[in-house]
This record gives sequence, C-alpha cells and structure tokens, in this order.
Amino acid sequence: MKILVINGPNLNLLGRRDAEHYGSDTLPAIGQALIEKSKALGCELIFYQSNHEGAIIDFIQGKTDEADGILINPGALTHYGYSLHDALVDAGLPVVEVHLSDIHTREEWRKLSVISDIAIKQISGLKKQSYILGLEALVEHIRSGKKK
Ligand code: DQA
Repeated sequence: MKILVINGPNLNLLGRRDAEHYGSDTLPAIGQALIEKSKALGCELIFYQSNHEGAIIDFIQGKTDEADGILINPGALTHYGYSLHDALVDAGLPVVEVHLSDIHTREEWRKLSVISDIAIKQISGLKKQSYILGLEALVEHIRSGKKK
C-alpha cells in the first residue's frame, strides 16, 4: 500500500515557525516519525512538499495511479485552494487532511477548509500527532475497503 504524504506552503519551515501553533518538530522529524509508523502499519510513504499549488497538483496527477491514499497538510491552501480541491477529487483516492494547529480556534479565516468536504477525516490541533493519527486512520480506511 502506497500513501502520498503532501505538505503545502511554508511547512518546509517547521521548526522555525511559531512553536505555539505548530510545535517545534521540523518537517524531516515529522517525516521520520511517519516512517516509523508506516513500518508498524505495513505501508510505503512517498513524501512531497511544495510552496506552489500547481506543483502539488502536478505531483498528485503524476502519482495518482500508483497510490492508494493521500495524507495532506495543505498549509494555507486549506482555506482557498480550489484547484488543489479539484485535483484531490480527480485523483479519486481517499484523503485525510491534517493540521498541526487547531484551525478552528484561530483566526476566523482559518476556520474554513475548502478541502474538508472531500476528506474522509480532518485532524487538527495535535501537532505532530495529527499526522500519525491521520496516517493510521487513512490506512485503516483503505484496508476496510470502504468507498469514500
Ligand atoms: C496549518 C494551518 C494553516 O492555517 C496554516 O496556513 C499553515 C499550517 C497547520 O498545520 O496548522 O501553514 O495547515
């Protein structure tokens, strides 16, 4: 089973961003924790990060046929990334949306996710653990054979 792990704009700077919201883990540290989890779950991860919506869409389109699911933290694209939304729909793969911070208790504009309607689950506010629980939920969903 192959899972695409996608991180959007500014997440390459984790470790230097506001630790109160995002924690102190770097993106490679989160990746390492996910690799450990993936071994326990028996799945393979393909990582991608970009600050550009179009590049993320190119990546999704290029990998759709070999992947079984998508774990994504879209960064600020969460709130306005309609092209990303459409690319995720077109991929036809189960999607879990994760956020380090709790987007529901921050600024008003962060409360809206244009991705959540197509995600099987949104996990928000648990810092690195959002990714770990997100991966677990995604793998469980795929193994259950459920449609979206
Ligand atoms: C984020 C929340 C977004 O609002 C923000 O723009 C990010 C990170 C999170 O993980 O908490 O860059 O997706």
